[in-house]
Amino acid sequence: MTANELRKKYLDFFQSKGHTIIPSASLIPENDPTVLFTTAGMQQFKPYYTGEKDPIKNFGARRATSIQKCFRTSDIDSVGDESHLTFFEMLGNFSFGDYFKEDAIKWAWEFITKEMKISPERCFVSVFEGDPAVPEDKESVEIWKDLGLTDDKIKKCGRKDNFWGPTGDEGPCGPTTEIYVDGIEVWNIVFNEYYCSADKSLEPLEQKGVDTGMGLERLAMVVQNKKTIFETDLFTPLIETNRIMLDHSRAIVFLISDGVRPSNKEQGYILRRLMRRVMAKKSVESINIENLLKRIIEEYKKFYPELNEESVLSVFREENSKFQKAIRQGLRELEKVGKLDAVSAFKLFESYGLTFEVIKDFAGTKAASLNQKDFDKEFKKHQEISRAGSEQKFKGGLADASERTIKYHTAAHLMLAALRQALGDGVAQKGANITAERLRFDFSYPEKMTPEQIKQVEDLVNEKIKENLPVKMEEMFLKEAKALGATGAFESKYDERVKVYSIGSSTSSASAFSREICGGPHVNSTGEIGRFKIIKEESSSAGVRRIKAIVE
Ligand code: ALA
Repeated sequence: MTANELRKKYLDFFQSKGHTIIPSASLIPENDPTVLFTTAGMQQFKPYYTGEKDPIKNFGARRATSIQKCFRTSDIDSVGDESHLTFFEMLGNFSFGDYFKEDAIKWAWEFITKEMKISPERCFVSVFEGDPAVPEDKESVEIWKDLGLTDDKIKKCGRKDNFWGPTGDEGPCGPTTEIYVDGIEVWNIVFNEYYCSADKSLEPLEQKGVDTGMGLERLAMVVQNKKTIFETDLFTPLIETNRIMLDHSRAIVFLISDGVRPSNKEQGYILRRLMRRVMAKKSVESINIENLLKRIIEEYKKFYPELNEESVLSVFREENSKFQKAIRQGLRELEKVGKLDAVSAFKLFESYGLTFEVIKDFAGTKAASLNQKDFDKEFKKHQEISRAGSEQKFKGGLADASERTIKYHTAAHLMLAALRQALGDGVAQKGANITAERLRFDFSYPEKMTPEQIKQVEDLVNEKIKENLPVKMEEMFLKEAKALGATGAFESKYDERVKVYSIGSSTSSASAFSREICGGPHVNSTGEIGRFKIIKEESSSAGVRRIKAIVE
């Protein structure tokens, strides 16, 4: 059975049991800022478990099924063994206050033994043994016994193995029962009975739910009787190569296609690490990575039409040329140093772009005691320092309070609002330097703006200038400003009073075009500004763009 047939069989099976098929969500979670990536099929459904959203209204059933693109950094060190990946596809079925343990277990067993025709002899299962906070799952044991499993096939395990969730800081979670085939865990069935709060306390959920996840690659491995996931047809059409290369290249294709760009922050940093590791390996094994990326896209495009060859290749080329410049020097430097600790390893990253894995791959015994945790600590420390630095940089953005300078200041507010409209709410101000001659403005955005985007921003600002909108200042508590969606805030505390400048025809309603926490001063109405023109858009630092603009 091919992986493609497995995907179809899974969705068909659960559709026949009344589930609505829901497409995969993006690898970048939309409704959970506390996690970097989508790591499980249930993530897009979190609001349905809590009752915040109504599944009937949104997809006509209290049950759903999906094949979710997932990315897990937690398994990065295990990649290369027979069954771990960073990027993988998760088959899942979900119940929101509908069926519970009995149907979930029976259908899973039916799918494995009847649809997949896997002999029960090859399987065992695990259930939650209970602890002081959550009782033993006796019900699941009985259900498994009814299905013919003997005691020796039902293992009881604790929190670490048989309790799942939440993703991010808080969310639904609960005890699990898992199906193992040939000793490999293939299916995790979670009974979402609790809500775990940020303080880690558990409250029973009003409606109980089911969340299951089965790795497509592992299912293919056991169905196709292979010894590793890399021998399944999900990987064999791709050229023969190192497992880590294969895993990372697949992840790179999917991450870039979902909009991630290499940088030194958050998702971009993870992508950069994967890319640089692949690039460093290439020089050792002389593999044509571009070809590999193209083959992956060709294979997977049938199922994931969002895969975008053009952007994958162009992002890859740009990063590769940056890396090639850095690596020779970096490796020379690496040869010079003696034993590597986290501080010296981080210096190699900062100065030469040698990422953790690249250092580990090349440094051999020198890096024997270097571990990810210490390296991450250094990284975090550095990020905090640089964040404080950029906030500082912003503080005194205005050169003076002359009439002309003030025009530029108001224009900067219009431009930030226009940038957010054109490029999305991920855009945040990173710094500004405003004189009577020009405006220089740094903002977070992972890639070069297109000429169309630049024009769109310019036009929008000029449109607002032409509308001659009033600029109004109000004082309020920071938390009120935040509630109104004002941008900015910087070092203020939540209960501090701040000035908020709004620009719009109805500045008191939530529909103001721009609303920023700011010390002023500003013009009284936008008509005073004149014609706005962007003269340059360039990179300022990793993940930060810089615009220079003038008003005429
Ligand atoms: N959400 C569960 C998991 O990821 C099914 O294992």
